[in-house]
Amino acid sequence: MSGETEAGEATRYSAESIEGYFGQYGDREWQRLVETPVDEVSLHIHTHYLRKHVLAGARVLEIGAGAGRFTQVLADLGARVLVADISAVQLELNKRHAHEYGFADAVEDWQQVDICDMSRYGDGSFDRVVAYGGPLSYVLDRRDVALGECLRVLRSGGALLSSVMSLWGSAHRHLQGVLAVPAEANRRIIETGDLLPETFPGREGSFMHLFRAGELKEWLARTGVTLLDLSASGCLSVGWEGALEQIRDDPEAWGELLRIELEASAEEGSLNMGTHLIAVVRKP
Ligand SMILES: C[S@@+](CC[C@H](N)C(=O)[O-])C[C@H]1O[C@@H](n2cnc3c(N)ncnc32)[C@H](O)[C@@H]1O
Repeated sequence: MSGETEAGEATRYSAESIEGYFGQYGDREWQRLVETPVDEVSLHIHTHYLRKHVLAGARVLEIGAGAGRFTQVLADLGARVLVADISAVQLELNKRHAHEYGFADAVEDWQQVDICDMSRYGDGSFDRVVAYGGPLSYVLDRRDVALGECLRVLRSGGALLSSVMSLWGSAHRHLQGVLAVPAEANRRIIETGDLLPETFPGREGSFMHLFRAGELKEWLARTGVTLLDLSASGCLSVGWEGALEQIRDDPEAWGELLRIELEASAEEGSLNMGTHLIAVVRKP
C-alpha cells in the first residue's frame, strides 16, 4: 500500500526518477557491498544463494544488475548472463568492470530494461532470474507487475532469486537515523512499509517499499511459486561494525562468523534483522 498526500494522491513508481537516482549514485554502487564488514557479510550471504541455485551453463537474466558485483559471481559460476538495468550509467559501469575484471565473456549483452516491462523477452526465456539489491522494492505500486514479469520470462521449473529491502532490518542497521526521524513519520513508514515523500517529507534519496518477512512470503506465495530459501542478508553482525574490522583480519574468526551468519540469518526468528530479505522461489 502506498502512502497518500494531503490531496489524496499517492506517489507512484517513476522510472525516470529511479534511473536518475542510480545515474547519480554512479560507482558507489560497486563499493556498496565491500564498504564495511557488515556489507561483506551481506555479499557473502547473497553469493551463497547464487552458488546454491545457479549451475554452470544456466541462462540468467540479471535484472537491476547495477555495477556488476553479482554479475562477476554469476560469471565465475559459469552462467551465461544477460545484464539488464534501468540505469544507463550502471550498465556502463557493469560493462567497464566486466572488461576490467575479465568476466565480459560470460555476458550475452547489456540492455537497458525496466523490470516492469520486460516485453522484449519471451515467456520462459531464462533458467534463472536474479533481481538482487531491491529492484522489487524500488518499483513501489508496480511490484505485482514487476514480479509477474520476472516469473513470466522464467522457464517452468526455473528459479527467481531476489532481495528486497527489509523494514525491521533497515531499522536495525540504521537505528540512530530512524530515531532521528520525527515519530509521526516513523509511524507512517512502519504502518505502510513505504518510504515516500508523503510518509517521510524531506527525505533525500530514492523511494522504496520495505518488506516484512511475513509479507514477502505471502506476496510470493500468492503467485503459486514454491519458496526454496528465505534469509536475512545478515543478522548477528549488524551493529558490530567496529569490532568486526579486527575479526575480518583474522581468516579463521572471519570464516567462523560467515558460517554462523549463514545459518542464523535463515532462522525464522532472524529473517527481519538484515537490511535485505533474500528469497529464492521456483516457478511451477
Ligand atoms: C542497489 S542496486 C543493486 C545492484 C546489484 N543487483 C546488487 O545487488 O549489488 C539496484 C539496481 O537496480 C536498478 N533498478 C532499480 N529500479 C529498476 C527497475 N525498475 N528496472 C530495472 N532496474 C532497476 C538500479 O538502477 C540499480 O542498478
